Amino acid sequence: MSKYIGILTAGGDSPGLNAAIRGVGKAVLGHYGMHIVGFRDGFRGLMENRTEPLEGGQLSGILTLGGTILGTSREKPHKMTVGGKVRDMTDVIVANYKANHLDCLVCLGGGGTQKNALRLKQAGLNLVTLPTTIDNDVALTDITFGFDTALGIATEAIDRLHSTAHSHHRIIVVEIMGHRAGWLALGAGIAGGADVILIPEIPYDVNSVADAIKRRKRSGKPFSIVAVAEGAVSVEEHHALLAAQAAAKGKKAGEAAEIVYAERTIKLAEQLQALTDLEARITILGHLQRGGTPSAADRILSTRLGTAAADLIHAGHYGVMVAARGEGTMPVKLEDVAGQVKIVPVDHTWVASARRVGTNFGD
Ligand code: F6P
Repeated sequence: MSKYIGILTAGGDSPGLNAAIRGVGKAVLGHYGMHIVGFRDGFRGLMENRTEPLEGGQLSGILTLGGTILGTSREKPHKMTVGGKVRDMTDVIVANYKANHLDCLVCLGGGGTQKNALRLKQAGLNLVTLPTTIDNDVALTDITFGFDTALGIATEAIDRLHSTAHSHHRIIVVEIMGHRAGWLALGAGIAGGADVILIPEIPYDVNSVADAIKRRKRSGKPFSIVAVAEGAVSVEEHHALLAAQAAAKGKKAGEAAEIVYAERTIKLAEQLQALTDLEARITILGHLQRGGTPSAADRILSTRLGTAAADLIHAGHYGVMVAARGEGTMPVKLEDVAGQVKIVPVDHTWVASARRVGTNFGD
């Protein structure tokens, strides 16, 4: 009996999602002779049973497309707004899974999606997940797809900002996505030769940043590029966040304090302008970093992980995320990955190398 597979994309989109849908789909259909159906807009579409046929040529011509042909949403199975009320819709999702005679559901997403998948596993469903986010912060995988593309976009932005910062003798503070992890800002900062890199994992002292910029000015370089991760915080903000989290007790860290990334970036630029006597400008890269065609590396990674998911489904190996490990892949239990965040270790080799070439981290 051939198996019936469902597939959905959840959370923020990232380049490579379509390549992964294609990888899963072509392998389950063509290689293993199974069936596959898509669900629209993440877990919301599964709850509403909004399906998307994938067996009629829909998987062709999507390898290079950005976004996701299935649509996505940040909705959680156990907390969905229905009829104006937030409700646990897990039972409806389980019923739709059964009504579609599914043998397995494939979920593509980041950390939140891994947690939601675990909840559905605990509700009795067979699942296989793939790790994807431009933030690269999913635990137990070497890398997530989408990261390499975003890294390229952010690096090119820094390259371009260099010439204008140089011409006008300005500081340019460029805000880079990554949520609470600094991978993207760190990677793009190194690749783009940013003079200062600020990441959430290393709270910064604005005076240290200003001193580094002033030293550059004295050495005949009256311009600087500051690559700041959207989640980066000053030492004072870091302590205030810890206090807010302690006060919020049982709540999760992120819920304890409202994060307004852009406000912090604007404040940082204003402080640096005042402290260095150089004009400062701000560039917030925002969703540009998630858009457009995936890089070659992301297309390869998505295809590797997608086809490995098909192999696991064929073998009946469920309840796992397909992690990237070296040149291969590795199934990781959802219990082990859900709720974990892979942040930048402060002694990571990328940080050490950046320090060797004189990059300031604000510490
Ligand atoms: O998780 C990916 C990401 O792009 C983060 O870097 C960013 O903080 C967040 O999503 C933005 O989310 P949204 O697209 O919902 O505004």
